Amino acid sequence: MHSTKNQTTQPIQEFPVFNNWNEIANGWYFVIPSKDLPRNAVKSIQICGQELVFFRGEDEKVRALDAYCPHMGTHLGKGKVVGNNIQCFFHHWQFSENGKCVHIPCQTEIPPKAQVKNYSVLELYESIWIYPSSQPDYGLVDFQDLSHATEKIIHFGKSYERTCHHHVTMINGIDPQHLKTVHELDIEMNIDISEPQLGNMIDISLKGKIGDGKWREKIARFMFGSHYSYSMRYDHGNNGFLTLMKDVYFKNYKWPSLHMIFAYRPLERGRLLVQPIYVTKKRSGLHGRIVSYLLIWLTKRAFYSLQGEDGAVYENMRFYPANLLSIDRPVAQYIQYVNKLKSSSWKLP
Ligand code: FES
Ligand SMILES: [Fe+2]
Repeated sequence: MHSTKNQTTQPIQEFPVFNNWNEIANGWYFVIPSKDLPRNAVKSIQICGQELVFFRGEDEKVRALDAYCPHMGTHLGKGKVVGNNIQCFFHHWQFSENGKCVHIPCQTEIPPKAQVKNYSVLELYESIWIYPSSQPDYGLVDFQDLSHATEKIIHFGKSYERTCHHHVTMINGIDPQHLKTVHELDIEMNIDISEPQLGNMIDISLKGKIGDGKWREKIARFMFGSHYSYSMRYDHGNNGFLTLMKDVYFKNYKWPSLHMIFAYRPLERGRLLVQPIYVTKKRSGLHGRIVSYLLIWLTKRAFYSLQGEDGAVYENMRFYPANLLSIDRPVAQYIQYVNKLKSSSWKLP
């Protein structure tokens, strides 16, 4: 949560959605890895301040409902799965995936208000995702160059917490100036921003020349040629789909790209969960498997080395975009995009 100090000399700049803890924008929020919710299991999880219950039915499908039973308010997380419904622990009322009560043990008539709110859930990247309404406007996006790959290999990094808003920490991937000042990547950046008609994502590509002064740059030039590029696809402003080594060649050989998702979920004001998810397409044969695992390993190495260099900045930063330069165009564009996202009915406590 950003500090409220220095208000008279450095007033906080409020945005409609961007960096605003009072707003939970519509979009897909990461819940847990799919394997953590087996068939017939129930889990209560707080997402963006909302107390929810998740359960996986007989048919393997995951459902999500508001957590408090509309009879007397028992937490449905204490209940159990019966077929594809969840049964409250206390008086055994059962609720279906749309939140309607479908069974009361002591009577046949179901009161019309015996209902809890349900939410859209999907499973992709071996993860469960939730949308803060039962009617999502859009699905979760995919990587530009992996959409054709039906099978993917997924590895979960260790999740971690930040104290700043997810919109702020997401900017790290598209801040061209700090590549040089912090990461010492002497890259002259050309920036390409496209906001597809869909409205649920924004693509930001950064391309540049690799310098040839330092030994690190010389090695990079030998391996990857004189140019480098990467792209960030933001899904609703909650998830960053990063593609590294994009269109990079060694002589005539095109290096495979590296892919990872930064999945974000606010826990409460000033507490953010970040889940790194490493992704590559599944390749056949022993050679293919080795290549896939090597690429996942390289993605992790790239992420750890960059994260270690500036992660601490986000611990007490009060984002203050008062003097953005033309090189900060991706940041300005991202802020504009996020401010157009629709608010959900959820609120952080
Ligand atoms: S409190 Fe849930 S059935 Fe009574
Ligand atoms: Fe960085």
